[in-house]
Amino acid sequence: MSFRDLCNYIVIDSDVAPGPNPWPIIGNLDIIGRFENPFQGFGTLAEQYGDIYSLTLGHTRCLIVNNLDLIREVLNKNGKFFGGRPNFLRYDKLFGGDRNNSLALCNWSQLQQKRRNLARRHCSPKESTSYFTKMSTVGCIEIDHLMERLKNEIVPGQPIDVKPIINAACANMFYQYMCSMRFDYDDVEFKQFVRFFDEIFWEINQGHPLDFLPWLLPFYTGHLNRISYWSKTIRKFILDRVVNERELNVDPDEPDTDFTDVLLKSLVENKNMSRNTIIFMLEDFLGGHSAVGNLVMLALAYIAQNPNIGTKIQYEVDIISNNGERSINLSDMSEMPYTMATIFEVLRYSSSPIVPHVATEDTAISGFGVTTGTIVFINNYILNKGPQYWSNPDQFYPDRFLEEKSTVKNMKEDNRSSENEPTKFQLRKNLSHFLPFSIGKRTCIGQNLVRAFGFILLANILMRYNIKSHDLSTIKIKPASLALPADCFSLLLSPRI
Ligand code: HEM
Repeated sequence: MSFRDLCNYIVIDSDVAPGPNPWPIIGNLDIIGRFENPFQGFGTLAEQYGDIYSLTLGHTRCLIVNNLDLIREVLNKNGKFFGGRPNFLRYDKLFGGDRNNSLALCNWSQLQQKRRNLARRHCSPKESTSYFTKMSTVGCIEIDHLMERLKNEIVPGQPIDVKPIINAACANMFYQYMCSMRFDYDDVEFKQFVRFFDEIFWEINQGHPLDFLPWLLPFYTGHLNRISYWSKTIRKFILDRVVNERELNVDPDEPDTDFTDVLLKSLVENKNMSRNTIIFMLEDFLGGHSAVGNLVMLALAYIAQNPNIGTKIQYEVDIISNNGERSINLSDMSEMPYTMATIFEVLRYSSSPIVPHVATEDTAISGFGVTTGTIVFINNYILNKGPQYWSNPDQFYPDRFLEEKSTVKNMKEDNRSSENEPTKFQLRKNLSHFLPFSIGKRTCIGQNLVRAFGFILLANILMRYNIKSHDLSTIKIKPASLALPADCFSLLLSPRI
């Protein structure tokens, strides 16, 4: 017996994680169905079965991990065994019939490594690089367009359906950054592109019975056809309005102009990338704008519910912008910790689920055997809302992300006595249990874009407007989801004097 066989033998023979007995056909779906949200349910079940337990959903074996050490073991230490993604029909429909076309929903492969490498520099720009400056510049250019639009659309005292406008502004920030172009807010095809991506973002954030009971397919053909239609329309828009023309003008001898240029050159330079692959990549990254738009909408909703948070952001904005004399840009970020803390609090509070991982070979977690194909759910809801990690976790409270700047440092920086100075704050550094973008080899590639464009949008909107709701009961937010329905609540934006 080889060492490898021996290991497999040990793994297969090792204990199976505890869990409820499954019913035929549905498995344990009845248990999950009892909870308003599966991730809240996962936490409740952990009280009964422990921090690691198994469930059978339909016929699929699943493992749920519920504490930081176990989550690190799956994502970091043993990440190479958990690089797969679930084989859901809906995922195929979203990506031209094959989920492996998608960056987030594909199984791990050499191609995925290559795609991540190609995207990293552009889509995860580091501070002090020219890409970072570009983010700041395009963000501020779009803010001017957004403010003009809001000024024309807002009727004093009337609520406004602001989500499509914010999403369109985000989409243009992404288009300018990645394709060096923007679209008019009234462009019908562009509006459709923005709307369909928002529908997809909602869709992808929902669990669906079909995922675990594929024999239900005949009852959901209408739904799947709708998904296909959204994604085909988006692809056509990107081809017609961006790729087809840009393809004619690629010059491998000129420096890269933007992400589209890099992608198109990779075809010419024959880096084993197919045209299909790069079009799906561009689509995936442009689609990231919906995540940012929904994040900003949630921030505005929480501000409408807690007006003092808006006031505190405005306090920072007013100091930095000298009472609105100029827009807020990315170089202001380090001086506006409360605004950033609000963005982090939205990420914590909304607790977007981590895309499930799948075991690609037989292995073990914490001594429990895991067989190939097992779906592993990372319960980051518990990391974000567990009382063991946060005090008053159900309160929306950005200050929890702040700590006092050390006095000695203040004195050195300011070269004056700190006695009469107001306390200065900075973002807390040691928050190892806060993993909104996950960790390990499949960590989010778009997190810098989220922070940058989210910050620019939130700060500049608050600079010009007070945010309220005409009726707070209309603000309905689903727990454990960053996504809001495409048609959600309106808000009252009143110009600041
Ligand atoms: C608030 C917004 C966002 C949040 C909370 C978020 C969070 C996440 C999480 C939790 C994952 C899964 C990591 C894992 O499986 O371990 C992920 C993957 C990913 N994200 Fe994000 N993300 C956001 C926005 C974006 C944006 C704007 C982009 C691109 C422009 C992006 C690109 C990606 C990609 C490409 C992956 C897949 C990486 C892989 O599987 O190899 N994300 N994101």
